[in-house]
Amino acid sequence: MNTVANAFTLTVTIDGVAHVGAASPERTLLENIEALRLPIRSACRRGRCGACRVTLLEGRLHPELQLLRDGQVLSCSSRLDGDAHVEVPRRPVPAVAPPACAAQPVPSS
Ligand code: FES
Repeated sequence: MNTVANAFTLTVTIDGVAHVGAASPERTLLENIEALRLPIRSACRRGRCGACRVTLLEGRLHPELQLLRDGQVLSCSSRLDGDAHVEVPRRPVPAVAPPACAAQPVPSS
């Protein structure tokens, strides 16, 4: 059985669906979300790019210095300080490839 020592309860809402699991205070919030096998974007994993932003709906994170505007936090740079509920933003809609052009004969010179 896979247990997390001194676990907190982490609720992660994605596209309106809440996922609940155990989370470790020893991991970053990003690592806890990944450990629950939930999709979340990340890039630098050092608090520099903002790709891992989530919205803190309930609970406290440590350090609170990572709290951004509108209750958002950088999950790669935050750790849980108790039970928490966060929302992962919707993934951007992938760009749609432009329709293929009909082949046009190239005029000869
Ligand atoms: S992954 Fe870049 S700020 Fe978190």
